[in-house]
Amino acid sequence: MTTETQNHIREGPTVIGVDDSAAREAAHVEEVTANTANRLSDGIVCGATPDTPSIPLVSDIVPNYRLDGHVTIVTGGSGGLAHTLCQALVAQGSELALVDLTVDKLSIVEGDLKEFIRVNKLAPVTISTWACDVSDSTQVEELVRAIPHEHQGLLPDKLVHTAGYCQNIPAADYPAARAEHLVKVNLMGSLYICQAMTRQLLEKTKRRKSISAMANSAAEALPRFPNASYVLIASMSGMIVNTPQPQVAYNMSKAGVLHLVKSLACEWARYGIRVNAISPGYIATPLTKQVIGASPEGAALQHEWTSRVPMGRMAEPKEFVGAMLYLLSSHASSYTTGENLVVDGGYTNW
Ligand SMILES: NC(=O)c1ccc[n+]([C@@H]2O[C@H](COP(=O)([O-])OP(=O)(O)OC[C@H]3O[C@@H](n4cnc5c(N)ncnc54)[C@H](O)[C@@H]3O)[C@@H](O)[C@H]2O)c1
Repeated sequence: MTTETQNHIREGPTVIGVDDSAAREAAHVEEVTANTANRLSDGIVCGATPDTPSIPLVSDIVPNYRLDGHVTIVTGGSGGLAHTLCQALVAQGSELALVDLTVDKLSIVEGDLKEFIRVNKLAPVTISTWACDVSDSTQVEELVRAIPHEHQGLLPDKLVHTAGYCQNIPAADYPAARAEHLVKVNLMGSLYICQAMTRQLLEKTKRRKSISAMANSAAEALPRFPNASYVLIASMSGMIVNTPQPQVAYNMSKAGVLHLVKSLACEWARYGIRVNAISPGYIATPLTKQVIGASPEGAALQHEWTSRVPMGRMAEPKEFVGAMLYLLSSHASSYTTGENLVVDGGYTNW
């Protein structure tokens, strides 16, 4: 197996200190020239593989979703959606840095994940737990800097940001402080965690840059992180207005997340960092199931919601795993950034 092939099969925290496109172009020209020479001399065309010239390997075209050797930060790690997403992440070999307001519940989540790993006979991965309020930029900065110390020095380059909450208050009655807090958590928290991760990645390569600049002064040093992928859980509420419940602050915060994603994607594409959103419709998490099942009003609310979903039901958390793995995999979604993957049973089409 060639090194190239191995890179495709097993993602690693690749950090390329310089823009090597010129060098790769030169190598390509070199290869074409060599192939032409071979054809002329003995009629054998050298291709991608020695035996079957010009036929790609399956691993070159069919994506894989392994995340071995990566640390994924999962914010809102104690939450209903994160619970299932974390199981999928460890199944794909990712190390996890679980973040939530307190560690108490995260310790239970960590225990559950270890049991999940044992029962499914998965390879063990490092899981760390962190208390952090994502609406506090200082806390977020400290968090991201501390994580590598618990993960053998690996820098987190994958993010699944689920931290957030919703509030149902009529707009005319909404106290400013409460609306501001919600926006600070849902929207500003999304910005802070992405900023802190990118800052750390860029800082790390500043050191490499000086070394590579000495080795190759012709190429302008541009750090590249082709495996870095941030997935922010937004909501269909960023595109439509839910009914009947009033939730203006939530809706505007999630609309903000969608444009934040586009903005960061455009700014950071030059570094190879991809930023995307997933917009869920209504999800049947343990929490929502409890609310719906608790009273006739809850049941009526569920009926009201699902009557507006073309597929006629709420989503299960596992129905977001495919979207998450697609966006995290630098093989599957290498050309996808600034995108909003809507997973809503068709709600936003009506
Ligand atoms: N459940 C749904 O129907 C639904 C639909 C669309 C979008 N979403 C979005 O999906 C995400 C996850 O939702 P969920 O249903 O799992 O909710 P959840 O309440 O079960 O989980 C959210 C987690 O975020 C944490 N959190 C809240 N504020 C925080 C802060 N300041 N700092 C750190 N952590 C904080 C909470 O403690 C909680 O564990 C949310 O962003 C939500 O807006 C949910």
